[in-house]
Amino acid sequence: MTRHFLKDDDISAQEQADILQLALKLKKDPYSAKPFAGPKTVAVIFDKTSTRTRVSFAVGISDLGGSPLIIDAQGSQLGVKESVADTARVLDRQVAQIVWRTYAQAGLVEMAENSKVPVINALSDDYHPCQLLADLLTVLEHKGRLAGLKLAYIGDGNNMANSYMLAGAIAGMHVAIATPIAYAPDADVVARATELATQNGGSLSVSTSVSATVSDADVLATDTWVSMGQEAEKAERVKAFAGFTIDSAVLAQAKADAIVLHCLPAYRGYEISAEVLDGSQAVIWDEAENRLHAQKALMVWLDQHAK
Ligand code: CP
Ligand code: NVA
Repeated sequence: MTRHFLKDDDISAQEQADILQLALKLKKDPYSAKPFAGPKTVAVIFDKTSTRTRVSFAVGISDLGGSPLIIDAQGSQLGVKESVADTARVLDRQVAQIVWRTYAQAGLVEMAENSKVPVINALSDDYHPCQLLADLLTVLEHKGRLAGLKLAYIGDGNNMANSYMLAGAIAGMHVAIATPIAYAPDADVVARATELATQNGGSLSVSTSVSATVSDADVLATDTWVSMGQEAEKAERVKAFAGFTIDSAVLAQAKADAIVLHCLPAYRGYEISAEVLDGSQAVIWDEAENRLHAQKALMVWLDQHAK
């Protein structure tokens, strides 16, 4: 059966661990896997803008012997003039995998239901699971393990928060989330992540207290307060998120050797201070590079499970 990667819990704990190990191997030996030799084509579709996702998928597909076909949705019929299902039926006869950055998670589900080839979520309004593979890989490299570590996320209960909760829980981490009350993460995702945390020896807490959340943390993470599509809410959001900036005073409450993640793009002075983002505890450039290695591992793994 063809596997898809639409959200973080589409893979088991063992599968997540296998993909991360494969990513470490491919980071050391970048051209050792050629699932797309031919070259086969992989479609990478963007309904929203991107730098990292665009570059890392294009480079990764080439490294794996394939040919990336980058499609900016405004130049296609997708979703507007033609249904997602019909698009899937056209694409899957010609490409080896479909990578899609879009708005509604339901669109990804519809694409996957109608595609014979794997579909990968390259960010939706609800999840950013490829980013989490890169983030976990970065933590694994810097800390040597995932299970048992405390990961504190401060900010918006958005797609990144959802993915931190699910992927962190699968990895057996202690995930702690702090958001303003009006921007708390989705209750269903919290419930699912709690269940996964229990199964994997981790835990999940959601609160409005930045201090309690970052206390004793091994990993701090944040994301923009204004996600793509929310630009009109900027002024209101900046006001609501006052006090939720990761700055030096907040970082000082975590463990002394804590590392700081940010998926980027970052807005210095808003969700994170320049001092922290550009400081010695931030591992954001490793994290951005790891998008490449983690996604290559994911594509290899999906190729192995596609037949
Ligand atoms: N982190 C991330 O997904 O970056 P882009 O929006 O630039 O792809
Ligand atoms: N939450 C952000 C992540 C960007 C990579 C957004 O959806 O815009």
